[in-house]
Amino acid sequence: MRAHPAGPLHADVASSHESVARPATPAALNHLSSAVWPASARRNADGAIEIGGVDVRDAVAAHSSPLFLFDEDDLRSRARRYRDAYVGAGARLVYYAAKAFLSTSVARWVTEEGLGIDVASGGELAVALRAGVPGDRLLMHGNNKSVEEIEAAIAAGVGRIVVDSFEDIVRIADAAGRAGVVQPVLVRVTVGVEAHTHEFIATAHEDQKFGLSLSTGAADEAVRRIAKLPSLALVGLHSHIGSQIFDAAGFQVAAARVVSLAQRLWDEQGIEVEELNLGGGMGIAYVDSDDPLDVADMAFQIGDIVGKECAAAGIPLPTLAFEPGRAIVGPAAITIYEVGTVKPVELDRGAVRTYVSVDGGMSDNIRTALYDAEYTVTLASRESSAEPVLCRVVGKHCESGDIVVRDAWLPGDLAPGDLLAVAATGAYCRSMASNYNYLPRPAVVAAAQGRLAVLLRRETLDDLLALDPGA
Ligand code: LLP
Repeated sequence: MRAHPAGPLHADVASSHESVARPATPAALNHLSSAVWPASARRNADGAIEIGGVDVRDAVAAHSSPLFLFDEDDLRSRARRYRDAYVGAGARLVYYAAKAFLSTSVARWVTEEGLGIDVASGGELAVALRAGVPGDRLLMHGNNKSVEEIEAAIAAGVGRIVVDSFEDIVRIADAAGRAGVVQPVLVRVTVGVEAHTHEFIATAHEDQKFGLSLSTGAADEAVRRIAKLPSLALVGLHSHIGSQIFDAAGFQVAAARVVSLAQRLWDEQGIEVEELNLGGGMGIAYVDSDDPLDVADMAFQIGDIVGKECAAAGIPLPTLAFEPGRAIVGPAAITIYEVGTVKPVELDRGAVRTYVSVDGGMSDNIRTALYDAEYTVTLASRESSAEPVLCRVVGKHCESGDIVVRDAWLPGDLAPGDLLAVAATGAYCRSMASNYNYLPRPAVVAAAQGRLAVLLRRETLDDLLALDPGA
């Protein structure tokens, strides 16, 4: 919890107004770096951004603003690259982590590209099933799955359910027993590695809600209990160390610790861990300075360490599984906003920050407010050669923390009616969106070969009013 004493200074105006480098030339502001923008992003003859051959102005004319716009081919090619790299490194299946963003179209696309899907609720399961994803391509997570969710998963023939607690073991075993099936399960192990973007810290004990602890023996105990239940089949272990991870170091520590449990199970109980699921968390670039390891290198390094650890432990090499979410969808989409107001605010020492208010905000992207996330933003409906000004792109919600991009240089002629595009908003933006201030959630559309398809339509005020029986 960050807190500051009450007083006049309710924004960090003094400390951060020079935190992003001023662009070398005005023209640099028009540049679309391939590190952060979708693969097909380009400026057309009008200087407007096109994605998948669709001009953002046309997309907004058709589906209103704010708007999430996916590059379908980019999303699909990321899915293929992750599948190829991790299958090449020893994975049986790469599951797309649906929590990053889910619609039936995306579920179909990733399935067509050879991925499974990791669902973390009955709702995500329902979308995947509606999309026709076969049950054996699904894996279910959750630290508090309801009996109804477990029953729905078992009825769908979900290939893996990940056990997260002792209660889970009993509930899954009972539901499988009632259904007359043997349900394959993994045990989620808390390995005491907490990943933080670039680095990781190993903690002595794991103070968080997920999984069963390795250090207290809870994970061993879970395996013992599962082995006694005829309606459950233990197929392996699971570990997820965090999100937006840029290198393989955290995965390597996690893999080493999970392999040590696998060795103990082999030596002491004669149980073979056939599958090791190392979760997701592969990071992406939100700004040019972000430098995540290339997918092929990351996959190779993780596969290599698992191989070496298993050889050293003298246990059979398990097949691997992974659950990337952000890395599949994050960079493949942008958010388009319309500028409503442009307000220069004087800072200390004569500096000025220009507050650019757009027609969305923390209801369609909570990540800046929640995680201090950084984003890249550019003028999308035209090019400009005006001098860059230091801006803060803010939303329209009744909160001063309603910030979309904390520090950005934008052209000094920016005006109401201009469209801005924020890059890499495909993951954890629409999926974490809210209706704060009764804002309808934006549409999500996908462009390919010059055509747009609706993935999720825009909400209407009638949708929101329909929830209120008194309205
Ligand atoms: N597997 C498990 C068990 C997970 O808990 C998660 C993410 C993933 C896979 C996918 O992780 P990814 O590859 O997408 O990093 N709302 C946060 C991220 C929360 C991630 C939660 N679990 C954000 O906006 O950054």
